[in-house]
Amino acid sequence: MKKKMKLGLSMRYLGYHLGSWRHPEVLPDGSSVFECFLDVVKTAENAKFDMVFLADGIGIRSNDEPRGSLARSRQNVELEPLTLLSALAPLTKNIGLVATASTTYNEPYHIARKYGSIDQISGGRAGWNIVTSWSDQEAWNFNRSEHLNYETRYERAEEFVDVVTGLWDSWDADSFVHDKNSGIFYDEEKMHVLGHVGKHFSVRGPLSVRRSPQGRPILVQAGTSEIGQRIAAQHSDVVFAAKQDLEDAQKYYSSVKSRMRDFGRHADDLLIMVGLTAIVGRTRQEAQDKLHQLESLIDPLVGLSLLYRSFGDLSHLPLDGPVPLPREGHAGLQSSARLYYDLAQKNGWSIRQLYKKIGMAQEHKTVVGTAEDVVDEMEAWVEAGAADGFNVTPTHLPHGINDFVEFVVPELRRRGRFRTEYEGRTLRENLGVPTPASRYA
Ligand SMILES: Cc1cc2nc3c(=O)[nH]c(=O)nc-3n(C[C@H](O)[C@H](O)[C@H](O)COP(=O)(O)O)c2cc1C
Repeated sequence: MKKKMKLGLSMRYLGYHLGSWRHPEVLPDGSSVFECFLDVVKTAENAKFDMVFLADGIGIRSNDEPRGSLARSRQNVELEPLTLLSALAPLTKNIGLVATASTTYNEPYHIARKYGSIDQISGGRAGWNIVTSWSDQEAWNFNRSEHLNYETRYERAEEFVDVVTGLWDSWDADSFVHDKNSGIFYDEEKMHVLGHVGKHFSVRGPLSVRRSPQGRPILVQAGTSEIGQRIAAQHSDVVFAAKQDLEDAQKYYSSVKSRMRDFGRHADDLLIMVGLTAIVGRTRQEAQDKLHQLESLIDPLVGLSLLYRSFGDLSHLPLDGPVPLPREGHAGLQSSARLYYDLAQKNGWSIRQLYKKIGMAQEHKTVVGTAEDVVDEMEAWVEAGAADGFNVTPTHLPHGINDFVEFVVPELRRRGRFRTEYEGRTLRENLGVPTPASRYA
């Protein structure tokens, strides 16, 4: 039987394209309008997507470099992801609700409690995308003058995840007897006090939220470093990967999955979902026309601001000239800088061509063509052991999801690659990943 794919929809800022807000059919302030998110989530749910996904940063991650770029960027205002998911939860029934939260600028108890609560409200559809944050701008919003260094951040993240998962095990599934006659509310044997004392956290517990309907909320992770992969292999149910090159993706896939044995986990217990931007038309020409229209919407200043973190200020260089070597930067962003530089070298792109290409969907794999072209590519990646599914990263919404659902989903189904009905009630059941045993079992 053909392997079925998992599908997510990533919807931050209502689209990955840098100039999406300028598209003639896009509501420019849509990323602050709840109904816009509800509309795209309903479309994804009707098409039986596994989950919607909200990336996040806790601040405006730009110093307006080059000057004037920030006032032209859509990345200034948005809705806070957990608040948004809480509003979406009662208006949806089956689709998973995944949001990003930082281990650097939160406390584990807060995260365990908030995601635990969304999980209760949604009947077991919540997921947490674990990030450590990466910008100084975020640090400035949380009493720091600069971002925590890499080692400390990841050390804190590992302990953080251990505490959160421990708190989620505070109550056994059958703890609450609610015996009105005897007056017993819960069975004392089935409540567990975490009593965590570590390097970064001291958390007694128990958590004041009952056990998750899906055992515990889904854990998502997106790191590529050694330690990022280790956290994924030990704890995650899903990895969100940004890969453009099939061979690179295969290597990453087997690297993460082979580490799982060390933690007593099976390779199928974790799904690797690759970011995928599909610009799809009824014909290849129609798809190309859509691409060119989108490319024309990127203001050069905004394009240069995208390259700023990797290359510094390029505004004194000719836009149609070659791309210079990346500068030294954040460890976590080095890989993007390298990827951008290599892409420009390989394709002979100028500065303008580079920002037009990566301004489409940043690091994510982009396919332009008909539904058959898109599905050919998706199948090739799944068959080659490079992906278990895809997190769709549309250029602009709602059009990106509407096109995907109208053209790509039927073609996936025609080839037996995507469900026609949800298999279960919870996100965990639909993803088909096992429920981790309670640490007190
Ligand atoms: C596909 C993808 C999505 C990510 N989403 C976020 C995000 O929403 N918020 C965030 O702060 N970092 C995000 N990151 C950054 C990662 O959490 C991480 O900091 C970065 O990839 C460096 O990881 P590494 O040090 O393990 O290589 C994302 C990374 C990738 C590859």
